[in-house]
Amino acid sequence: MPLDSRSFRKALGCFASGVTVVTAVNPATGEPVGVTVSAFSSLSLEPPLVLFCLGNATLSLDAFRTAGHFAVNILSESQRDLSIRFASRTEDKWKGVAWESWDSGAPILANCLTSLECSTVQTMDGGDHVIFVGRVERMRHQEGGSPLIYFRGSYLDLGFTAPAQG
Ligand SMILES: Cc1cc2nc3c(=O)[nH]c(=O)nc-3n(C[C@H](O)[C@H](O)[C@H](O)COP(=O)(O)O)c2cc1C
Repeated sequence: MPLDSRSFRKALGCFASGVTVVTAVNPATGEPVGVTVSAFSSLSLEPPLVLFCLGNATLSLDAFRTAGHFAVNILSESQRDLSIRFASRTEDKWKGVAWESWDSGAPILANCLTSLECSTVQTMDGGDHVIFVGRVERMRHQEGGSPLIYFRGSYLDLGFTAPAQG
């Protein structure tokens, strides 16, 4: 199979993922920034590290690079609208969005399955993306609930609610 970028995207789309909205405060303006991100992963338990990847063309890339902190909000299946909103270039991504801030100010969105507040410990260039590694400083997670899933370019409902972990 040819390795052109369209085929490569299609191949990678076969990896079903959850969906997050990664947020920060832009130090230059004091305004919140947020981007829909599926390139998120746990990285280490001890110390507690996670990572996510942002494309070089992301408007808020500089804000994330300089903020020093970020939050990862893992979306539930009922939050598809938030995923669409934070993946758009709309002027006012934050209009009507319910959020609070903890220690760093990075927006913690309401009703997510999990929210992780992180300090940025490393950034690395990775091709046309930047990899952000963060240390989880504070978190909140819901017992139960179903995730929003992205697969082959579409959102999927799992159709069941996983039992709470013991
Ligand atoms: C389900 C989904 C997952 C996405 N995952 C990523 C991702 O992991 N990294 C990324 O840079 N952009 C990702 N995007 C695209 C960004 O959300 C989109 O380009 C956004 O507009 C960038 O924000 P900006 O307005 O600050 O440029 C994803 C979009 C969708 C719909």
